Amino acid sequence: MSSYEKTLDVIFGRWKSQTLYAGVRLGIFDSVSSDSKEAALVAKEIGLDDALAYRLLRALASLGFLKEESGSRFSITTQGDLMRKDHPHTLRGIILLEEGPEHYQIWKHLPKMITDGRQNAFVREYGHGAFEYAERNPEYAEVFNQAMSSYSRIYTQWVLEAFDKYDFSNIQHLCDIGGGHGHMLSHILSKYPHMKGSVLELGSVIRNKELLWASKMGVGDRCQYIDGDMFREVPSADAHIMKLILHDWNDDECIKILSNIYNGSSDGGRVFIVEHLVPDPKTPHFSKLFDMHMLCWGSGRERTVEEYSGLLQKSGWNYVQTLYPGNGLIGIIEGAKSKP
Ligand SMILES: C[S@@+](CC[C@H](N)C(=O)[O-])C[C@H]1O[C@@H](n2cnc3c(N)ncnc32)[C@H](O)[C@@H]1O
Repeated sequence: MSSYEKTLDVIFGRWKSQTLYAGVRLGIFDSVSSDSKEAALVAKEIGLDDALAYRLLRALASLGFLKEESGSRFSITTQGDLMRKDHPHTLRGIILLEEGPEHYQIWKHLPKMITDGRQNAFVREYGHGAFEYAERNPEYAEVFNQAMSSYSRIYTQWVLEAFDKYDFSNIQHLCDIGGGHGHMLSHILSKYPHMKGSVLELGSVIRNKELLWASKMGVGDRCQYIDGDMFREVPSADAHIMKLILHDWNDDECIKILSNIYNGSSDGGRVFIVEHLVPDPKTPHFSKLFDMHMLCWGSGRERTVEEYSGLLQKSGWNYVQTLYPGNGLIGIIEGAKSKP
């Protein structure tokens, strides 16, 4: 791509993701299948205006999510399949959250926040931080929690890959702090049958038992869900893991969480921090873009290994190592309670 094409691609990036959002929101990908179907029939099935639905389907085809054939007929592509509700690695939850109304609104505060140095877009727009807003808006909370499971469908594989050579024999009890519906922990328990686990979460997130992964994954007898607050106290365990937690919070808040984990660990205890790790200045990386989202969403940020290592040290932990999956999109930082 030329510089012009690359730049235009960025300029029109939101048009693409909003087009995809509309398709997912309206249920297009659960109506169109691999056998081609007339646009008018899709529109009728899911209650859309014929003419406008055709234009949306055509745009989705132009982006590669559908295939348009003559006679206004459409079929789904491999890319479109990833937007279906029933795809095992569906990305549907992610688009519904990241292009949904709340996350769309908060980005508009980015230039002003950078001018005045106050990182609080959610508060500017809605009067509360994101987690408080979720407590008051069940619809956002549902979309948010589904999106976390949707992200996990990709990230859990990377975590398992990064841990592939790790010796878990001394870890009998692993606690996932802010573990959502338990997707990652259930997969870890499934791979390492000697372990039991617990998920520490806000009560509102784990209330609906049908959404929890442990029983769906057949590890319900080894996995406990605990309603609690990581800023107050964490359950004791041989090791604690956190995926995409510390990037939600500022340094002081991270030190509070890491110190609480330290207090809940026995000597030799471990902590695993799973995050997008910012690489050296010369390397373009998804973490540098995700950092803009964190700037808009809450008080957090993406950090380098050195920055996480500094937070560990300030909370009493010793940095041990960083493990990466092959694609390097995330990393797992290991800390130990005593000298490694
Ligand atoms: C960005 S999500 C990550 C969820 C999960 N670790 C994952 O990767 O899918 C942050 C999680 O932290 C949980 N959380 C927020 N505040 C918390 C608190 N004070 N104590 C425990 N969990 C909390 C949220 O409910 C949410 O599930």
